[in-house]
Amino acid sequence: MMRRLTTFIAAILAASSLSATAGDMVSGQYEYMNHCASCHGTSGVGDGPIAGILTVDVPDLTVLAKNNGGDFPFLDTLMAIDGRTGVRGHGSNMPVWGDSFAREAAQQAGDYGAEMIARGRLLSLVEYLASIQEF
Ligand code: HEC
Repeated sequence: MMRRLTTFIAAILAASSLSATAGDMVSGQYEYMNHCASCHGTSGVGDGPIAGILTVDVPDLTVLAKNNGGDFPFLDTLMAIDGRTGVRGHGSNMPVWGDSFAREAAQQAGDYGAEMIARGRLLSLVEYLASIQEF
């Protein structure tokens, strides 16, 4: 169900002329490689080029399900990436993606549209992470 929903949202975003990067916004994998791989690594294990200069460990994103008794923690992951929910601890090095995605879209889409676009991008990222879990 969620997979179908996020695929639907991704299709709308890909077709939308409202999106900040219309046409480019094809998949969670694309988003991941552009925004996340620098720290979390291209395969998600936490070995991106920036990881070495951070003072905190960059988590391995392929073991989120394994660390949660075999179930992918969908909502926790969504909220961790969004960052606006305050779920993360103090001194986080993770950018607040919910804010930056919404800001990027705000000029073309207005507040409501920008929020929809931000959520679509966040969901496509969560779906991509769900697809790279090691069991
Ligand atoms: C500047 C480096 C950096 C970038 C870029 C980055 N992250 Fe992170 N991420 C971290 C660090 C460091 C943590 C560890 C917790 C913290 O500091 O908040 C983390 C934590 C997480 C977590 C929580 C993992 C757990 O074990 O609960 C998720 C999920 C995550 N990142 C996904 C992403 C996604 C998706 C992107 C791209 C949209 C991204 N990150 C981009 C550094 C980064």
